[in-house]
Amino acid sequence: MATQPQVPSAFASRIIGTGSHFPQKILTNGELAKTVDTTDEWIQERTGIHSRHISNSSNPAEWNSGLATEAARKALEMAGKKPEDIDAIFLATCTPDTLIPSTACWVQKNLGAKKAWALDLNAACSGFIFGLSFADQMIRTGFIRNALVIGSDVLSAFTNWNDRGSCILFGDGAGAVVVEQTSPHSPHRIYTSHLKSDGALWELFHIPAGGSRVEVTPEVFERKDHKMQMKGREIFKEAVRTMTEYAELALSANRLTTADISWVIAHQANARIIESVAKRLDLPLEKMLMNIERRGNNSAATIPTVLDENVRNQKIQPGQFILLDAFGAGLTTGSLLLRW
Ligand code: ACO
Repeated sequence: MATQPQVPSAFASRIIGTGSHFPQKILTNGELAKTVDTTDEWIQERTGIHSRHISNSSNPAEWNSGLATEAARKALEMAGKKPEDIDAIFLATCTPDTLIPSTACWVQKNLGAKKAWALDLNAACSGFIFGLSFADQMIRTGFIRNALVIGSDVLSAFTNWNDRGSCILFGDGAGAVVVEQTSPHSPHRIYTSHLKSDGALWELFHIPAGGSRVEVTPEVFERKDHKMQMKGREIFKEAVRTMTEYAELALSANRLTTADISWVIAHQANARIIESVAKRLDLPLEKMLMNIERRGNNSAATIPTVLDENVRNQKIQPGQFILLDAFGAGLTTGSLLLRW
């Protein structure tokens, strides 16, 4: 378990704008069932997913960087900031446009965020929480005054569309927030974050080829080793265990109980995982915000897109405690507690 000290600091950070964006094409379970041996009923019952968005790779606006740019524009607009105001861009993704340059640099160029330094970080589905935690730590020390934190993934490009055990889950999308320095005495701020990685569990979810270790040769291509490989049942159990543990860590670090929490935004991997975490935490399911039914699992984008949707529909109100909680390939885990 992580023992990150939560040190008092001269500054704190606060989310002041959110945005999200999805590709136009919606792929329903019914359509998927025409190409792979599955049914709408099975997918809905086992995952809670009805449909997901799929990027068109010939449309730059639907590349990872294109989705991220649009989500960032919306977050900047809500925050009342111009791209030139931004000090740093943290873009969490495991499906970058290109290995070099980073997708964050493509987004920086698209936005014209001339002052910002920009980098990608890969903690898979936990990436948004990792990125938000990094931005918070840097704002606390005064190293930066604000940041764009983006979670953006195009999982469809790395999905084996013949594997019914995994292809039913994934989709594409992007979510973004603008965080800005505030007083550490302000109630409206990020309170704590707790992060963890366990590389020993790499095999539960990985892509064997396409990095510097294994080139994508015709044989590799034929075996689909450049696509995501997943041990679903094992991940399910680990996800429930670790997300429960990290939610409890966030609560105890802040001397809060589940009754103090208005909303939990958990990584949208499978509605049954979220239900199991709620049950273990003894939290009513209504407090678990979800968009998985319409969006599927879009990795680092799930948490910021759920956040954005519920800020815009005004479910999220000032003064509410919100707990973010994720797990992802690596395996990685993170929780972050904030007050809106
Ligand atoms: N349609 C119909 N039947 C299917 C399908 C399908 N799409 N997929 C599997 N089945 C069958 C299996 O073959 C199996 O049949 P059998 O009993 O005859 O052997 C049966 O359904 C049960 O299979 P399980 O794998 O036990 O099904 P489970 O209830 O565990 O659901 C699922 C599978 C949905 C993958 C679930 O385990 C899960 O969501 N795991 C977590 C995955 C995850 O979160 N991945 C992402 C992590 S990292 C990231 O987010 C990027």
